[in-house]
Amino acid sequence: MAKILVTGGTGYIGSHTAVELHNAGYEVVIVDNLSNSNIKILTQLHAITGKWFDFHEIDLQDDKAVQEFAEKNTDIDGIIHFAASKAVGESVEQPLKYYRNNFYGLINLLTSFNRKINFVFSSSCTVYGQPESLPVTEAAPVQKAESPYGNTKQIAEEILAETAAVTPDLNVIALRYFNPVGAHETALIGELPNGVPANLVPFITQSAIGKRGPITVYGNDYDTPDGSAIRDYIHVVDLAKAHVAAIKLLETGNPNGNYDVFNIGTGKGSSVLEIIAAFEKVNNEKLDYKIGPRRAGDIVQIYGDVQKSNKQLGWKASLDINEMMRSAWEWEKYIKANPF
Ligand code: NAD
Ligand code: WQD
Repeated sequence: MAKILVTGGTGYIGSHTAVELHNAGYEVVIVDNLSNSNIKILTQLHAITGKWFDFHEIDLQDDKAVQEFAEKNTDIDGIIHFAASKAVGESVEQPLKYYRNNFYGLINLLTSFNRKINFVFSSSCTVYGQPESLPVTEAAPVQKAESPYGNTKQIAEEILAETAAVTPDLNVIALRYFNPVGAHETALIGELPNGVPANLVPFITQSAIGKRGPITVYGNDYDTPDGSAIRDYIHVVDLAKAHVAAIKLLETGNPNGNYDVFNIGTGKGSSVLEIIAAFEKVNNEKLDYKIGPRRAGDIVQIYGDVQKSNKQLGWKASLDINEMMRSAWEWEKYIKANPF
């Protein structure tokens, strides 16, 4: 049973990935500093899997702690590196927080695990900006980042590619996620946004439950069929499974070499208004929304070409926007009834 270190494993995507790794027969070790997650997630993971995951409260910025952890855990075969700061708006306000956390964590891990290791990195479709043609393939040019957060993802990919080029023992896959939404089918884990959600789906669920006021649709005058902006929403459980597929490809040896990049989306775009309509229909809930101005920095539309991940990772998204909206709503109701 291979042992996988999940950094940021009590976070939103990391917790779902811990479950899927366990289901696939892996031993999971979690490292998190709980800066954006709750220790109670471990109890939730136990309720889902029957397993208490090995957990270490470590700040990846602490180079000595990471070094000590790596020296004690020589049996780790792979790392899935989720731990990072991820709020786009906050990164504009506090760029150094983002450059410090997202780079030091990555560099400390790579330095301390300087041995044979498989490494999966959380990148983002944000690296494409507004692509010239859609669906966007992995070969599309990376565009100047709109935010320090986006810049950390672009530069982290470069750090990994350059390090892999001179480190044959380091086998890397960067996954460029599109828009992760939804929650586990048990409704025991899901996204726990800090403060007022900037992202669409958590705002929808919090508005529906009465925690927030009306939803603002940021623009209905885009050049899209209904005028609202289009994204490739991906169910977090499908996304979690993509990480298991990436680890498996690294284990068998990636014919493309020791650094590779994959889009992880459904390949289908949905507009803001379509998301709202799907939520209302599948949950039989009326949403209170109004049309507002466009949000600064937003692109018009993006959706991924997922042929490479379908073929080479042998992975395909299977859950549709109805299931995304259903599970997101079940989770919101669960967390209201059972606050952490
Ligand atoms: P999250 O905030 O829920 O999870 C990240 C976890 O990392 C948190 O539990 C946090 O406490 C931990 N963490 C942060 N800094 C740390 C540090 N220095 N040491 C130890 N732990 C630390 O975020 P998420 O949505 O699960 O995102 C996971 C990864 O995926 C991030 O790298 C993010 O940038 C990337 N990503 C997210 C999205 C998205 O929309 N959610 C999209 C694309 C990429
Ligand atoms: C989706 C759509 C909004 C809120 C962000 C990051 C990206 C990635 C995923 C990490 C847009 C519209 C939103 C609202 C709205 N994260 N919207 N009303 O901006 O596509 O991507 O998260 O890597 O880097 O930038 O996601 O959920 O904020 O917005 O109309 O209250 O919903 O304008 O069209 P986004 P989002």
